Amino acid sequence: MIIIGNIKMNKTNTQVKDYIMKLLPRYEQGKHETILCLPYTSLTTAKFLLEGSGIMLGAQNLCDEEAGKNTGEISGEMLHDCGAGYVIVGHSERRAKYKENAKSINKKIKIALKNRLKVVFCVGESLAEKNLLKTFETLKTQIEDGLKGLYENELENIIIAYEPVWAIGSGKTPLSKEIEASIKAIRKVIANDFSDKAAQKIEILYGGSVDNKNCSSIAKIKEVNGLLIGGACLDAINFSQLIKDVKA
Ligand code: PGA
Repeated sequence: MIIIGNIKMNKTNTQVKDYIMKLLPRYEQGKHETILCLPYTSLTTAKFLLEGSGIMLGAQNLCDEEAGKNTGEISGEMLHDCGAGYVIVGHSERRAKYKENAKSINKKIKIALKNRLKVVFCVGESLAEKNLLKTFETLKTQIEDGLKGLYENELENIIIAYEPVWAIGSGKTPLSKEIEASIKAIRKVIANDFSDKAAQKIEILYGGSVDNKNCSSIAKIKEVNGLLIGGACLDAINFSQLIKDVKA
């Protein structure tokens, strides 16, 4: 199981220190692959605090250009240098609020890989798309646009997170059979565009209103290789309990 905590735009550097100091004594190494995706401003601090803990460090975004005249942006190279091993790309909040389009997401994925960052590539349908029965079509388009031009061996450094937009932060989750069907549909796209082997191998997580109550049952769904957690990772004690519960 891969468990990713997405802290989003929460916690100052001081608060991240405090959070990690609470999390570490409660964290059992080796049970899961745990990745903490933090704001840029606390990556360097977290790099030192997390060393040897087994918890890996990720960022939540990167620039779609490599370097130069992009005031206010952060490059893949900078993230790697700050200790990030992972980066989230294509989160629905960025697609919606910051107008990230398919082309930019594709560029970000390529730049991340080039800079030795593993990509947590988020895809998912909106409520309108779900109601129009366009979930699979949406997933296909998002996957194909995002992974355009990639070689099959590069998929080893990509984790897909299936996150229905309507489930994020809403307290609502799809039925187990819906999650299973969507992930199968994602694997089918990978099989068609790359190979059956790639489709079987790629890790696909579920994200959207996962909490301490539903984490175990969602983790048990066939096809689900891990969880992407937003709100429920903000409290270190809650999050460490969630990680333990998934194990149980
Ligand atoms: P949520 O967020 O767990 O608060 O729904 C998940 C995400 O946005 O990655």
